[in-house]
Amino acid sequence: MTPQPHDDLTGARVLITGGAGFIGTALRGALAAAGARPALLDSLSAYGPTTLTLLGTGTDDPHLTVGDINDEPLVRRLVANADYVVHAAAHSSVHGCTTDPQTAVRSNLAGTDTVLRAVAAARNVRRFVLLSTAQVYGHGAPHTPRPEQAGVFTEDQQLDPLNIYANSKLWAEGHTRQLLSVAEHDFTILRPFSVYGPGQVPKKGAASWVVAQFTMYAALGQQLLLNNGGRQIRDFIFRDDVADAIVRCLTIPAAAGRTLNLGTGAQTSVREVAEHVRRHFPNAEIVDAPRVAQDPLGACADTTRMQAVLDWSPSVGVGDGIDRYVQWVRHAPNAIPDWMRAETSNSRINAWRSPAPVPL
Ligand SMILES: NC(=O)c1ccc[n+]([C@@H]2O[C@H](COP(=O)([O-])OP(=O)(O)OC[C@H]3O[C@@H](n4cnc5c(N)ncnc54)[C@H](O)[C@@H]3O)[C@@H](O)[C@H]2O)c1
Repeated sequence: MTPQPHDDLTGARVLITGGAGFIGTALRGALAAAGARPALLDSLSAYGPTTLTLLGTGTDDPHLTVGDINDEPLVRRLVANADYVVHAAAHSSVHGCTTDPQTAVRSNLAGTDTVLRAVAAARNVRRFVLLSTAQVYGHGAPHTPRPEQAGVFTEDQQLDPLNIYANSKLWAEGHTRQLLSVAEHDFTILRPFSVYGPGQVPKKGAASWVVAQFTMYAALGQQLLLNNGGRQIRDFIFRDDVADAIVRCLTIPAAAGRTLNLGTGAQTSVREVAEHVRRHFPNAEIVDAPRVAQDPLGACADTTRMQAVLDWSPSVGVGDGIDRYVQWVRHAPNAIPDWMRAETSNSRINAWRSPAPVPL
């Protein structure tokens, strides 16, 4: 089925799995603004009621179905009522997947399979969009002349997933291509880089989501820990830009069957983020910490294909985006989770150093 141009979403029913999450809730807002009718499916496994309220959802949300993507009858019923499906549900942190691989397999592999088979069987779905991740690139091309130097990740380069999360997403990409190609179904795979912005609440034990972490720890008067000295390079893309890109991606014909990076093309080191946050919290102490295993050295997105296919570029630069995040935390101090208040620098470093062993 060929999607219509991107301004034709009026009245379209869009199912967002993981719709109560950080990206899902932003997408829901962008879709509503475009005249679409978003429906959310989420197990509410990632966040407590306070965060969900800040994200504009919760158990009393009339557009949210609380359920698991492994619940096949439920998924089939919701997919049967959708014109588009965006698959954002995932056990979505590196640390979470490393310490609980069974949940990673259940949500990111088995759950993705359930959603994909429902889409393949439905004739009403015009396009399926998978949110993969830039983590599939790992440290980058193994043959770069200076592997310690950050560069640019291009969609067709060799992939090098370094952890269970990245592996699960790479599998989801392949499964999407295989199942939906056989079913002659339209799909697009997106690889978001480091998404950040208001609404983001860190997950316990995770070393990622540094804009949120640094801001909240600085607000609490705690140290900003730079694993590996903060030399890792990231490409920070603002949450609202990601939502805009996904909305465009749903109906642009040229996106059919494509795999697209979702980034800004700008390189920012983790240390630069900490230093920018410290401008708002001059007393914040920046401290070097040991490297976290399985944390990619990183690079920025080659955005050539994204810009050409979507005819779009992100609008929020990282400095402006961090400023907006800091303002959000200042206005919503209850966004800082209680577990963060109880942390010490040592407890954080220990969590990074020793993820629980994989259960045998
Ligand atoms: N945030 C980022 O920087 C980033 C970067 C690249 C890719 N992604 C991907 O984008 C997607 C959305 O990310 P996010 O930042 O909003 O994460 P998130 O954790 O905020 O949202 C994921 C949502 O999925 C739900 N979920 C998890 N397992 C489920 C299951 N079995 N059934 C139903 N719902 C389930 C969670 O409750 C959560 O609300 C994820 O697939 C993630 O891997 C995120």
